[in-house]
Amino acid sequence: MKLFIENNYNLVSNRAFSLFTNFLPETRVLGLATGNSVVGLYDRICNGFRRKELSLKGVSTLNLDEYFRINRDHPQSFWSYMTTSLFSRTDLQPENIHFPISEGDPVEAAESYNHEIDEVGCPDFQILGIGRNGHIGFNEPGSPRSARTRVIVLSHETAEVIAPPSEFAITMGLKDILESKRIMLIASGREKAEAVSRMIYSPLTYLVPATYLQEHPNVYVVIDREAGALLDLKSFESRSEKFGVFKNGNLIFDI
Ligand code: GLP
Repeated sequence: MKLFIENNYNLVSNRAFSLFTNFLPETRVLGLATGNSVVGLYDRICNGFRRKELSLKGVSTLNLDEYFRINRDHPQSFWSYMTTSLFSRTDLQPENIHFPISEGDPVEAAESYNHEIDEVGCPDFQILGIGRNGHIGFNEPGSPRSARTRVIVLSHETAEVIAPPSEFAITMGLKDILESKRIMLIASGREKAEAVSRMIYSPLTYLVPATYLQEHPNVYVVIDREAGALLDLKSFESRSEKFGVFKNGNLIFDI
């Protein structure tokens, strides 16, 4: 796990964008997350496209999740979020955009997305946020490591934080997320500090789904100082190889 600790959210987004562009040439399938944490990255990708510095024309995308039992055009849907923040502002081709469907029979909806994932292949580069309870995608505490796409009931904790338009969501499972070649997780703010600390320190457990990232060989965690507030940075320095400390005070650890 490579851990990048930046001084603020702006620098987190710059770092995430720089990792994204580094790996873009090797990214045929891009896994996409929604949420506040990835807004800065998506803005930078759109600006890069506008300035003709990058293209997503040959890239296929797989979105992680969507609320279930709502229309995808609902203003709070992840489809609406993605359309506004990325799809309509880049050269992603509509036929290359893969999204879990938000209505109909839950078992059929899940099977259909699993089928799409099997056809497209797991992401070469997966972008992730993290929930305060350690969820990734909508794999809430209790999600098995072997799970594929399914419809879930959101936890009370998550529902309180995000005030969702539905109590149900459809999410790619941990199995497919963890089969991504590279994963970049972005978190900022003090309210994410506990989740980040549990992701890094807790033994692997389905109670904190993000802990499964510990066993993935290519994970990049990009956070600000507040999200890293509960980490013992000194211990990383002594027990692992630190691979760079930069002038503006950001820290990079290989843990
Ligand atoms: C939701 C999404 C996740 C996202 C998380 C964090 O639960 N399903 O994919 O990672 O929110 O969102 P935010 O970045 O807004 O804190």
